Amino acid sequence: MSTGKIEQISVVGAGILGHSIAQRFASEGFNVNLYDSSKVNLLKAKNNIFNNLISLSKSNLLKSTPTSIFKKINFFEGLSRAVADSNLVIEAVTEDLELKKIVLQQIESAVCDECIIASNSSSIIPSEYNSELKIKSRVLGTHFFNPPHLLPLVELIYSHCTSNYVKSEMESLFTNMGMHPIVVYKESPGFIGNRLQFALLKEAISIVQEGISTPQDIDIVVKYGFGRRLSIMGPFEVFDYGGWDTIEAVYPNIIGDPVPQEILEKVSQGKLGVKTGEGFYKWDPINLNKKQKLINDVYTYLEKKVSKQ
Ligand SMILES: NC(=O)c1ccc[n+]([C@@H]2O[C@H](COP(=O)([O-])OP(=O)(O)OC[C@H]3O[C@@H](n4cnc5c(N)ncnc54)[C@H](O)[C@@H]3O)[C@@H](O)[C@H]2O)c1
Repeated sequence: MSTGKIEQISVVGAGILGHSIAQRFASEGFNVNLYDSSKVNLLKAKNNIFNNLISLSKSNLLKSTPTSIFKKINFFEGLSRAVADSNLVIEAVTEDLELKKIVLQQIESAVCDECIIASNSSSIIPSEYNSELKIKSRVLGTHFFNPPHLLPLVELIYSHCTSNYVKSEMESLFTNMGMHPIVVYKESPGFIGNRLQFALLKEAISIVQEGISTPQDIDIVVKYGFGRRLSIMGPFEVFDYGGWDTIEAVYPNIIGDPVPQEILEKVSQGKLGVKTGEGFYKWDPINLNKKQKLINDVYTYLEKKVSKQ
């Protein structure tokens, strides 16, 4: 469990991700220092956070008043002062390895030895940016999903140097904030979420290049079709519903490769998914009823909210 040592957090880089990460921590009661090398972007971040908080408050989605949350964030125009007293610094500057390396070294030279340093990236692994840092054991990667103040997932990426203390502090921190910290077992560019998203993007672009569809129609297929499932089911749940025997038959026709061992095994064991009571998940009648109710509720809600726009 967390020893609760993390109280003061700094975010370096106040762009699309940085301002929203700062807002999420402030909303959970942490003191946050937000710094950006661009005064214009820092001002934009300030306005965005304020407007987000007002809008969330109107929907009753805040634990306290917008003003009290806003006051938890201090905006800085100098890096050293912004990070000096923090227990955790999250670097969220532009996705550029060389820039991240420089900024992380600047952070390292301004914080105490106990401070945990995270780099928020969409694809870069810790072993790439920690090479020139003196204390590698306190360094990890985070991957928040845009916008972090609304999406409760963060991937945690450790190098072989990251200490058990840092791992446990970070996992507890996010769990206590009601988020889902998912540990990526091996350093792999794009981690989990972006490997999946970019596989979809690669296919979407191929479909356009092959003249099969347009970007606009592809978006409709995702939004009004299988995208609706993905908010409440991951791919393994989706195809537990579809039936692994059917997927076994379909797979080579679409992918062109042999059916993977993981699918062949399920079929040979008779674990076809919902229809046999087990696939990658166990589907007893209670689980199934709960899931079905969620599916009914979410699909109906989305149909009302999205389809009319
Ligand atoms: N945008 C997304 O959807 C998304 C999602 C997940 C992760 N990320 C990752 O988060 C990181 C930040 O992405 P973003 O979308 O917020 O980028 P962004 O371009 O919106 O913001 C980057 C900010 O960093 C600032 N910056 C640049 N150099 C700096 C320096 N030396 N010191 C301090 N600030 C500096 C810029 O002024 C800018 O405000 C990237 O690594 C990105 O891959 C982005």
